[in-house]
Amino acid sequence: MARLVRHELDAPVRIDPQDKPIFVCACGISRKFPLCDGSHKNCKSEQPGKLYVYDKESGDIVEERDDA
Ligand code: FES
Repeated sequence: MARLVRHELDAPVRIDPQDKPIFVCACGISRKFPLCDGSHKNCKSEQPGKLYVYDKESGDIVEERDDA
């Protein structure tokens, strides 16, 4: 079973439950999901009006579509 999930944020969500903050992935491509692993940096090249498909293992963009 495969799933295409739409994420539009390009940075983690910061929560501060204790002295040290925790960064929760909000972009959806972290290999350590639900924690941010810095993979959101790959989202910075995304262009408005496009839909991107990422490879689960490498985190690389494997497809770019018009987001109609
Ligand atoms: S917000 Fe997803 S990897 Fe950082």
